[in-house]
Amino acid sequence: MKLLFVGDVVGGIGRRTLAALLPGIRDAHQPDFVVVNGENAAGGVGITQKTARELLDTGADAITLGNHAYRHREVYELLDREPRIVRPANYPKGSPGRGHTVVERDGRRLGVVNVSGLLYLDAVRSPFAEVDAALSELSDGADAVLIDMHAEATSEKVAMGWHVDGRATVCVGTHTHVPTADARVLPGGTAYVTDVGMTGPRGGVIGVKRELALERFLTLTNVRFETSDEDPWLNGLLVEADDDGRATSAEQLLLPARL
Ligand SMILES: [Fe+2]
Ligand SMILES: [Fe+2]
Repeated sequence: MKLLFVGDVVGGIGRRTLAALLPGIRDAHQPDFVVVNGENAAGGVGITQKTARELLDTGADAITLGNHAYRHREVYELLDREPRIVRPANYPKGSPGRGHTVVERDGRRLGVVNVSGLLYLDAVRSPFAEVDAALSELSDGADAVLIDMHAEATSEKVAMGWHVDGRATVCVGTHTHVPTADARVLPGGTAYVTDVGMTGPRGGVIGVKRELALERFLTLTNVRFETSDEDPWLNGLLVEADDDGRATSAEQLLLPARL
């Protein structure tokens, strides 16, 4: 089985980058499943029904989210209704959406789990206990499991990788929008990277127009952020796995787009 995970898609430029590059990635690598983090898909922050639909139509088999999951109220109903979208599992039980799901293609089943870190982010239960619960629920129903650990701190994500090593096929970190250089298969067979990075404009400050981000840093005033349109890249992780769900390779994709 081959899996492609695509880091946080930022705004329209991120969506266009994904649409422009995915066909070539499919030709070259033929992933069985494509999972996309969409927490910044709508104008750089959050996701809407329209942008979620666009990501699914572009070829995402599943969409993961993060701390911006609930930015747009109009998407709540879709989060409840659409089984291909997950938000952090360690959010309050009654809040919109689900934390894990199973998507199927050609008779193969991929479990997808989204959790949020607790360091500098809000969640109501431990992501470590939460993935244990999700993995036990998925144990009979999935041929492979991908975990998106949406977290700020590298330490928390590294720890999560070790926590699930041998129990998940893939554990990717997201949220910082900056890729780390540590993609590998852990000894137990879990493909891991601390942060996949983002799919969006590298010419900004983690997606924001750099002059606006700099103005806020320099003046501490309330600056309205806009998404940068400079130098779009796709950041992803390609994983190959055996039939037993153990990963055999993990390759970072860092691809510039010409839009
Ligand atoms: Fe993000
Ligand atoms: Fe985030």
